Amino acid sequence: MYLLRWCNVLLLLLTAVSTKTEIVFPSPEPQETESSYWHEHGRRELEEALRKPKVTNVAKNVILFLGDGMGITVGTAGRIFKGQKHGKSGEEGFLVWDRFPNVALVKTYNLDKQVPDSAGTATAYLTGVKGNFYTLGVNGKVKLGDCKASLKPENRVDSILKWAQDAGKETGVVTTSQVTHATPAGLYAKSSHRRWQCDTKILSAGPDAQMCKDIARQLVEDEPANKMKVIMGGGRQEMGAPREEDAEKSCIRTDGRNLVEDWLNYKDARGETRAYITTTEELHSLDAENTEYIMGLFGDVHVPYEVDRDTSLNGTPALKEMVMTALRRLKKNDDGFFLLVEGARIDHGLHYGQPRRALEELLAMEEAVAATIDMVDLEETLIVVTADHSHVMTINGYPTRGNNILGVVMNEEDVSDHLPYTTLMFTNGHGFNYSWNGEHVIRRNLSGVDTNDKNFEPLAAVPTYPGSETHGGEDVAVYAIGPMSHLFHRVHEQNYVAHVMGYAACIGPYKDDCDRPLEIPQNVYRHIKNVGKYSRSKGCTLLANINSVALLCITVILVRMIRC
Ligand SMILES: *[C@@H]1O[C@H](CO)[C@@H](O)[C@H](O)[C@H]1NC(C)=O
Ligand SMILES: *[C@@H]1O[C@H](CO)[C@@H](O)[C@H](O)[C@H]1NC(C)=O
Ligand SMILES: [Zn+2]
Repeated sequence: MYLLRWCNVLLLLLTAVSTKTEIVFPSPEPQETESSYWHEHGRRELEEALRKPKVTNVAKNVILFLGDGMGITVGTAGRIFKGQKHGKSGEEGFLVWDRFPNVALVKTYNLDKQVPDSAGTATAYLTGVKGNFYTLGVNGKVKLGDCKASLKPENRVDSILKWAQDAGKETGVVTTSQVTHATPAGLYAKSSHRRWQCDTKILSAGPDAQMCKDIARQLVEDEPANKMKVIMGGGRQEMGAPREEDAEKSCIRTDGRNLVEDWLNYKDARGETRAYITTTEELHSLDAENTEYIMGLFGDVHVPYEVDRDTSLNGTPALKEMVMTALRRLKKNDDGFFLLVEGARIDHGLHYGQPRRALEELLAMEEAVAATIDMVDLEETLIVVTADHSHVMTINGYPTRGNNILGVVMNEEDVSDHLPYTTLMFTNGHGFNYSWNGEHVIRRNLSGVDTNDKNFEPLAAVPTYPGSETHGGEDVAVYAIGPMSHLFHRVHEQNYVAHVMGYAACIGPYKDDCDRPLEIPQNVYRHIKNVGKYSRSKGCTLLANINSVALLCITVILVRMIRC
């Protein structure tokens, strides 16, 4: 008994000491200092490139994974974070899509903005036509808030959702934002303002806006949205559905309608089976294969962040679970399907200047991509992973190899105030925190501060309101695998993404343009399966992303060794 208590005290003591120490994660490749290692590595990559498949059959299925705000910097940081969560240095590792055979760059600007928003960009990569900032499903003739122009048929553009439905494919959307938010709405809504998610926002937008229909109503009442077989995300507030009195008031309906009820009634009237679910337990007990229409709303506003999510059965599912359920339903159709999956809250974590939140969201989306690869035939399914736009986060020099990506750098040589700074930092954001002492600029001494905390905000050069860190304007990457994925091959305009998806599946503008073979080559992508997977290491290293936890592990092992 005494001994046990003594052990606990030792444990606490060692943990307290360990929080002060930055851990450097080791490289999993001790041979990397040998030239032969790199020659061998280079040769293997070359061989893979020489064997690179060109799969030219028709894509039966198309799945688009959209990491909202997932700029290239975010991807690099996410890759390192992933490795470090497994106790490895991380730089040498891969995200699942890093090994897709085709990668290109995408120019994201909106017609009227050098740096875009998620609505104008969604219009581009989902309809094949670039639009203006904050507008959805309408061409560049429609300026922000111009309801009248958005109603003109010649200004409205169809998305791949309609192309796929016209070709007899099943369709669905899974997101961690409101189902009426910019990215999912890019599939189905025609609106001159992305904020018109519920009627209240239109009512306050002036007399000219009143002819327009809010986005939630478009989702339930209009084609092609009401023909989607799977709709999952958040947004009970916008839909007027019963909710848990979320603190955040995003858009509360004035018309008092419960659009989920209406959606259910429309399906009943047609004798279709349907289900409305709001918890993980309901998702698990859903008979997805035998339910025609599925709507899951897992948040009053958005689906909770992965780091805040209630993982019990009464809580909300991980993105991966939603996607797997969606795939089980959509795969039922012999004519194939189109699915949009959005990792929406990568963007939110970054807007709040909290990198930990964003990176956990990125890894949650990666798990969904990995699960998808295991569930579909890559030879008949085009998978595209991309972002709508970047953010103003950067990776500062020169942390040591394997340095905690959420940690700090001590750069005595270059930095004139001799204080450490975080590796990840923002050019604008809520983390701004400089003061003037009459002589020089003062910033916080980060020694001993827990920069791994999910709410930690690294410094930003320009102050913004909370949640208002901005998007960034550089190109984003597009990663693709499956039929016709080689058509991504250079720097493209963002609208090209829709064209490749349409052409690959012979739908929309390319439905008559399709004298390609339907036969499917076998096992072309065998080498992709299991790529980027870390072996599940036992116990401690899984949690090693938090440096103190890593040392706690060592402590536990030591304590065990002295057998207390
Ligand atoms: C801002 O920096 C000062 C020191 O310069 C520090 O005392 C304060 O806690 C910091 N504020 C935040 C919100 O980090
Ligand atoms: C920052 O804090 C650490 C630990 O408290 C201290 O050792 C160091 O001297 C401080 N640096 C400066 C420049 O004040
Ligand atoms: Zn954004």
